[in-house]
Amino acid sequence: MNTELLSTHTAALFAAAVQRAAELLRAGEVVALPTETVYGLAANALNAAAVARIYEIKGRPAHNPIIVHVTSREMALQCVAEWPAVADELLKAFWPGPLTMVLPKAAAIPDIVTAGGATVGVRWPSHPFIQAVIRECGFPLAAPSANPANQVSPTNAEHVRKTLGGKIPLVVDGGQSQVGIESTVIDLTSEPPTVLRPGMVHEESLLAVTGDLISSQKMVLNAGGKALRSPGLLKKHYAPKARLALLEWRDNADLRAQIAGLGVPGSKCYIVSHTTIPTGDGFAHVSVIPHDAEAFARAIYAELHRCDEEGAELIVVEALPDLPTWRAIGDRLRRAAAS
Ligand code: TXA
Ligand code: MG
Repeated sequence: MNTELLSTHTAALFAAAVQRAAELLRAGEVVALPTETVYGLAANALNAAAVARIYEIKGRPAHNPIIVHVTSREMALQCVAEWPAVADELLKAFWPGPLTMVLPKAAAIPDIVTAGGATVGVRWPSHPFIQAVIRECGFPLAAPSANPANQVSPTNAEHVRKTLGGKIPLVVDGGQSQVGIESTVIDLTSEPPTVLRPGMVHEESLLAVTGDLISSQKMVLNAGGKALRSPGLLKKHYAPKARLALLEWRDNADLRAQIAGLGVPGSKCYIVSHTTIPTGDGFAHVSVIPHDAEAFARAIYAELHRCDEEGAELIVVEALPDLPTWRAIGDRLRRAAAS
């Protein structure tokens, strides 16, 4: 299949890409669209056959439910069977934005979207392109991240084209994703609500709205024993092809000694640092990304994609500050490092 790649950087290109994406989505096709978190692989959420194609294209296990994207409170209400008061409070505080709310599903949502489950994840994204497409279509869009299952999520159109090019009719280029990691997922069917996946809407911010919360950290500890509430909690997930290690070092010599201990030659080792910057000699590459949680989140997946593309054997990421603002990034990197 020939994959069309459409730009959106002028008003005319943006409008033309919205029309083309909507046309394909109405016809039951699957297309890759930008969102502010990561790029999504979208289909009409009300069309079971179209959503089935998403699973096929991603190689996604049938037990992993897909988030539904909306652009209004009314559209969210059409997807759910219950809308508690706390959902309105969260909507006011965080939508549009990188927060997914899990609620009892409406009959209108096909079972395949929720992997047979009784709940549905709903999100109102802030990226203007996907908003315009949803409004043009008039139906909600089911969209997981636009990557083959278990790989690193794409944060630009080129990441999508490299892995899904030839498998989908359209990739829309909406620039670099501004959040850079996947949305926070909060389950509102438990009392108190449970954070199933941490994200850049931090637990501290959620707590200010919900009053009480079961933290994702507790969930991860439980995940080994109990049935998984959210397959995104699988320990190994979001992984690059290369091995990944989170390390702290005093200086170059200390870093080199630790890498030697891991049995990887320096020439196959890519360093991603933010505070104690090593000199480049002896490593394949040293990159520096800002010591600021938001800027770091925006940049980290592109770093992982680039290291893989250049054939890294080991990616060493400098250990992150142990602060609430960095927790979601730490969650993704620890999963990527799990083996
Ligand atoms: O930021 C995002 O959420 C991106 C963009 C495209 O919106 N989407 C995304 O989708 O990351 P995906 O499928 O890669 O991750 C969705 C996560 C998975 O861990 C899934 O198990 C969980 O959300 N999830 C979806 N619906 C759920 C539900 N009804 N109950 C529990 N977990 C759910
Ligand atoms: Mg994903």
